[in-house]
Amino acid sequence: MLPHVLVLGGTTEARALATALTGRPGIRVTTSLAGRVSRPGALAGDVRVGGFGGAEGLAAWLRERRVDALVDATHPFAGTITANAARAAAATGVPLVVLRRPGWRPGPGDRWHPVPSLEAAAALLPRLGDRVFLTTGRMGLAAFAPLARLHFVVRSVEPPEPPLPAHTHVLLARGPFTVAGETALLRDHRIDVLVTKDSGGAATSAKLGAARDLGLPVVVVRRPPLPDGVTPVGDVPSALGALDALAGP
Ligand SMILES: NC(=O)c1ccc[n+]([C@@H]2O[C@H](COP(=O)([O-])OP(=O)(O)OC[C@H]3O[C@@H](n4cnc5c(N)ncnc54)[C@H](OP(=O)(O)O)[C@@H]3O)[C@@H](O)[C@H]2O)c1
Repeated sequence: MLPHVLVLGGTTEARALATALTGRPGIRVTTSLAGRVSRPGALAGDVRVGGFGGAEGLAAWLRERRVDALVDATHPFAGTITANAARAAAATGVPLVVLRRPGWRPGPGDRWHPVPSLEAAAALLPRLGDRVFLTTGRMGLAAFAPLARLHFVVRSVEPPEPPLPAHTHVLLARGPFTVAGETALLRDHRIDVLVTKDSGGAATSAKLGAARDLGLPVVVVRRPPLPDGVTPVGDVPSALGALDALAGP
């Protein structure tokens, strides 16, 4: 039986890793998706969709499907599945590689306000402006719903989940975005302040450059911590290297 790698996906890196692994002879790759996105696009290798039923369900899946290595390549803010992956790996003895793209770093001219949660971002906003560009994804926007006085432009890939603030304009779009495009958007909507998660990566970082150029403040929601004892790798080549090291000579 070929060595079987399960990639917990939902990110650009997971997609690239599946492509790279399926290009290697003698490996079977399955990518797991939560099923949140209606049209996730084609993926190399096998694909399964939907939750496992907690850490225990994931552990059972690893055993039943004879998985030899587990790669958690989920989004930096998908904290539950990451915790479950660590628990399931520990319970089954299946080696775990955690692939996390690095977070963004502020540079000269940036006016960043780091906060620990969406609720903390919402609490800060009334002091920073009236017109908000909200790019934290389609979930969790209830935190901003009480801010009835502010005007929001919400951008997400899929329609945002209610409740939403009273004054909300929704833009459905998928990156990558350009600094020129983001600058035009911030100007056209007369945005005072940007809110983002520290997702990292190039596809959605242009808004940060645009905010810097326009001198706008940015509320940056910090990442949830990784489980104890987990040291992530930062990119696809490093994940491939970690898998090679597991396979041995
Ligand atoms: N959070 C974000 O901002 C964000 C952004 C872009 C993409 N994503 C992707 O969207 C997915 C869901 O994100 P989330 O923040 O809702 O995750 P989450 O809060 O960590 O996970 C919630 C539950 O969804 C299921 N799940 C999550 N990822 C899964 C996967 N790759 N395969 C199978 N089941 C999965 C698990 O259900 P069970 O307990 O039943 O196994 C998990 O307990 C993730 O795969 C992530 O990579 C998230």
